[in-house]
Amino acid sequence: MCGIFGYINYLVERDRKYILDTLVNGLSRLEYRGYDSAGLAVDGDKKNEVFAFKEVGKVAKLKQLIADEKPDLTKVFDSHAGIAHTRWATHGPPSRVNCHPHRSDPKWEFAVVHNGIITNYKELKTLLEGKGFKFETETDTEAIAKLAKYIYDDHPDIEFTVLAKAIIKELQGAFGLLLKSVHYPHEVVAARKGSPLVIGVRTQKKMKVDFVDVEYNEEGMALPAERASQNVAMKKSALKSHGLLAPPDKSLLHRSQSRAFLSDDGAPMPTEFFLSSDPSAIVEHTKKVLYLEDDDIAHIHEGSLNIHRLSKDDGASNVRAIQTLEIELQEIMKGKFDHFMQKEIFEQPESVVNAMRGRLDVANKKVMLGGLRQYIGTIRRCRRLIFIACGTSYHSCMAVRGAFEELTEIPISVELASDFLDRQAPVFRDDTCVFVSQSGETADSLMALRYCLERGALTVGIVNVVGSSISLLTHCGVHINAGPEIGVASTKAYTSQFVCMMMFALSLSEDRASKQKRREDIMDGLAKVSEQFKEILKLDQSIKELCLKFKNQKSLLLLGRGAQHATALEGALKIKEISYLHCEAVMSGELKHGVLALVDENLPIVMILTRDDIFPKSLNAYQQVIARKGRPIIICNQDDSEFPPEKSEKIEVPHTVDVLQGLLNVIPLQLMAYWLAVAEGLNVDFPRNLAKSVTVE
Ligand code: F6R
Repeated sequence: MCGIFGYINYLVERDRKYILDTLVNGLSRLEYRGYDSAGLAVDGDKKNEVFAFKEVGKVAKLKQLIADEKPDLTKVFDSHAGIAHTRWATHGPPSRVNCHPHRSDPKWEFAVVHNGIITNYKELKTLLEGKGFKFETETDTEAIAKLAKYIYDDHPDIEFTVLAKAIIKELQGAFGLLLKSVHYPHEVVAARKGSPLVIGVRTQKKMKVDFVDVEYNEEGMALPAERASQNVAMKKSALKSHGLLAPPDKSLLHRSQSRAFLSDDGAPMPTEFFLSSDPSAIVEHTKKVLYLEDDDIAHIHEGSLNIHRLSKDDGASNVRAIQTLEIELQEIMKGKFDHFMQKEIFEQPESVVNAMRGRLDVANKKVMLGGLRQYIGTIRRCRRLIFIACGTSYHSCMAVRGAFEELTEIPISVELASDFLDRQAPVFRDDTCVFVSQSGETADSLMALRYCLERGALTVGIVNVVGSSISLLTHCGVHINAGPEIGVASTKAYTSQFVCMMMFALSLSEDRASKQKRREDIMDGLAKVSEQFKEILKLDQSIKELCLKFKNQKSLLLLGRGAQHATALEGALKIKEISYLHCEAVMSGELKHGVLALVDENLPIVMILTRDDIFPKSLNAYQQVIARKGRPIIICNQDDSEFPPEKSEKIEVPHTVDVLQGLLNVIPLQLMAYWLAVAEGLNVDFPRNLAKSVTVE
């Protein structure tokens, strides 16, 4: 939900064209997180001048606006800080004025970009209005910029990080934010609480890219590094109250921090920093990154990066590991495909293999999930397994519920994170709570995770994005290794979650003698899934043609029973979110209890009728539809003679073990959703009102 991007260079000469292109390009990579409007702020031509560009719509429109306004692109900066934002509106409709960056005043003394929600912004706004500030937008973010100026005006010699701490102490809610100011030229403060932020570092020559701990004495003087001591002399004025809410408390003066990217002799080094909500916007510049954690305040200036903690008492380390990104640039490009969603659908034969690589040993009939090894015994003994997720990730949990119940015989519940929290559902120390999330940042899931941690439950993350909040906060987990998923409609994450959870169930049931044959059948089935996906993807063009039949339809029913109800739910969500066609998933057994009243010769119906133990019962629903002159489209197994061509259209998929059949059945539905949207001329990757990674409640 919203993407933020920042660029800072130090002793590396860059012209304004490079800086603007880098920021705009960063936003394009993050556009899937929000595409209502986009904006950026860079240094102007004169001292204390800021150029800000804001435009409603997609990043391409911002690019055009910049081209139209013709800033001097040749001006060269050897130090510069620029910040940028692509928005998914939460407070205030998409408009130029509501678009980020937001400013403290017409001169742009402070500029801020923000992802998340400031829940106490109304109180802050009222207080600041009382101090004479004039708000110009309907956003929560503007309060941050105005608060910065208010505190600064009271303490003009305050240090940037001390100022940032004073601001952040006043903010409630969730945020990832970047702050820049004419008073601290070429510096940026980045702060994280609940919304992801990653910092990439590119150095021109090999240098020490380690953190060192820098301790400060009571006077705020750095003890080890001479250069640090010059830069960080504590300003006594920071002690004074800024008179807004509580005065900055003493912990703001705590100066323990870690510092990276000093040369051995502490001399300044040419360095560039790229800050982003997501590493996919960084990988083309550098693979060296570090992830900020909640309550981190990162200060970038003079080629170095200092990480401060909001409070010295939280016991958390302020040293962040430098990691090497494993994604490649081509993974975040569309390649030969028209849309990311289409590319991601077609990547599934490979992504499921990546989910199983090194984990499933079919020859020896073993599953090894390294991230769970230490905890698997405890999980086997838990009193309940609670799966908690949202949207598509929730559907993948639903899809594997039956297999978990059968293989583990542990009571299973599957919960929508928001509802779970609304009910304040009981959670106990001997529960295991499994959080399934592509992004690892979904606010509802993250809050449910914190809720379960507070109650002492063991928590497991099934996550795609490495370094995401859910992967960091859970006790243990499995990365699904699907690679970057850019299309807003989740596809490959669903199948990889499914596969990983199935391996989790296999792992848990390893010690159950009575389940061995069944486990082996499932493992054999998993080994064949990739090839079966390839076969189904060959149906692409025939599914495209079939979709033309739905043109101008207003509604569609999708029927499934047992595990295929989850497939129907997922298919219906895909169709709704990208084609805007109302599509309802119905548990086939429930048809006769009400929904049958909708069925006639006109209503399009898709029925999932692949063979499993409950197939005879599923057939009842088919008969009920045929008897009402319905002409359903059937997803069935190859060569199933049950469905004569004159009564229905068929999409034939290979047969597999019943608990894996949903993996195969969902692929035609993903393709249907895709082609329905394309037929309507809709922008598949950017469905209206939606964004990937929902970091608001
Ligand atoms: C649908 C979709 C959403 C997400 C949901 C949870 O295509 O993408 O329903 O599945 O917002 O997101 P994650 O899995 O990132 O927690």
